[in-house]
Amino acid sequence: MKKSLGADTFALPTPVWVVGTYDDQGKPNIMTAAWGGICCSVPPCVAVSLQKIRASYNNIINQKAFTINIPSVDQMTAADYVGIASAKNFDKFATTGFTAVKSDLVNAPYIKEFSLVLECKLVHTIDLGLHTQFIGEIVDAKAEEAVLGDNGLPVLSKINPFTFSPPERKYYAIGQDLGQAFSFGKKLFDK
Ligand SMILES: Cc1cc2nc3c(=O)[nH]c(=O)nc-3n(C[C@H](O)[C@H](O)[C@H](O)COP(=O)(O)O)c2cc1C
Repeated sequence: MKKSLGADTFALPTPVWVVGTYDDQGKPNIMTAAWGGICCSVPPCVAVSLQKIRASYNNIINQKAFTINIPSVDQMTAADYVGIASAKNFDKFATTGFTAVKSDLVNAPYIKEFSLVLECKLVHTIDLGLHTQFIGEIVDAKAEEAVLGDNGLPVLSKINPFTFSPPERKYYAIGQDLGQAFSFGKKLFDK
């Protein structure tokens, strides 16, 4: 018997992303976002939702661009920090030692030290309530060679990202490789 928990955001787990933006002076900023996901394949798009109070919110509205940087477990402390400290009060690049690299394609910085980054141009803005959802078309994905597999595509275990559990306010590592998707289910067609 299930117990009702009320209306809440318990879609577990969420990603842990670091959103890169520029302010009006061209100063880079980064903030952590968990309210996000892939939302279209063609064109490739991501959705990420920010509260209006975030410094990054104004940056996306004004520059119409952002990057999604995927942190690894090794970068968890810094990724958590940029989700606590606001650019309104802290120089997050000075503290973390991360390097902001200007994207050639959109007016947003990506983080050099992160192995996988997505450069996004803002295509839709949806005011949902406390959060505003920004839909970004991915104009390029960039990855370090070291995290690519033989087919030239990113390998999750090499990137070693981590996830977030909102009700527990905890980070979790990602477990073992379970096998091929779009494959296991095929055996049930013969049932
Ligand atoms: C794990 C985690 C997930 C977060 N997810 C979001 C999110 O999806 N949207 C949001 O607006 N803030 C989110 N935050 C809070 C912002 O990252 C935080 O308020 C940050 O300091 C904003 O920085 P800024 O004001 O420099 O933009 C999250 C924080 C953490 C630690």
